[in-house]
Amino acid sequence: MKQDWAADLRLGVVGHPVAHSRSPRIHGLFAEQFGLALEYPLFDVLPEDFASFVKHREEAHQTGLNITLPHKQAAHALCEVLTDRAWQAGAVNTLWWEGRVLHGDNTDGIGLVRDLTLHLGLKLEGIRVMVVGAGGACRGILGPLIAAGVDSVCISNRTVERARALARVFADKAELGWSRLDQAHSRSVDLLINATSCGHAGTFPDLHNSVLGEDTVCYDLSYGPAAGPFLEWSRQGGARLAVDGLGMLVEQAAESFHIWTGCKPNTGVALNTLRGDALPA
Ligand code: ATR
Repeated sequence: MKQDWAADLRLGVVGHPVAHSRSPRIHGLFAEQFGLALEYPLFDVLPEDFASFVKHREEAHQTGLNITLPHKQAAHALCEVLTDRAWQAGAVNTLWWEGRVLHGDNTDGIGLVRDLTLHLGLKLEGIRVMVVGAGGACRGILGPLIAAGVDSVCISNRTVERARALARVFADKAELGWSRLDQAHSRSVDLLINATSCGHAGTFPDLHNSVLGEDTVCYDLSYGPAAGPFLEWSRQGGARLAVDGLGMLVEQAAESFHIWTGCKPNTGVALNTLRGDALPA
């Protein structure tokens, strides 16, 4: 969707909680690159109020919204039109209206793929991937990873049934396996992705470090302190590289910004600025 330049860019992120979000800063940096005036507040909305909140924003001529936890599935259910990747992910992180028709996309997976390939310089074709965790975060990245040409994906999860169910959803698209977290003693993988919510509780998944080799790249979908425990475990286990998800956050935001404005931000510049920001304690 290309925005009418005469109109204000009325954006924002909806979550609960949402105070920690760095999205206003990121979209502010993008808007500066194009000299655009931007309104991008945080909206802390309870799950039971989400649908009426979105309706209200439509009536207030909102340009679009980013959606974060716990509303991504509710946003998916509200949309009248979904992109293929949002449909596949079962979750929406970007909303916009065309006329009065609510559209939804999921830019998380493409954000991850772009961070891995553009900023970290990884080649994804033919590599072996293990994703730890089988919740919404995992589901959101599987389609784009497979589309990027990875050879195989093993989903490893504490609750093995969830890993198996997710592997089956994508089984016709790539070599998909699953395992219980404490039984994932495979040979080393090329890319190990932490898609659990462990880091928010200050821990890391209880995974055997035989999955780490000297060429393994470890990536945590979280950023900041939540990524710390897994990245520390990865470094101690001898991973080649251990990276948090800040680059993914910037890239998914850039894709949303492009949907709303037609403008493609310089994400490298924004990422460098963010890495230099002092983080709240
Ligand atoms: P999200 O939408 O962020 O993925 P979720 O659906 O609640 O959130 O999924 C969280 C994931 O983190 C799950 O894979 C969960 O494992 P279970 O399916 O077994 O619940 C995983 N997780 C959370 N805490 C964990 C822990 N302490 N150890 C291992 N895995 C954990």
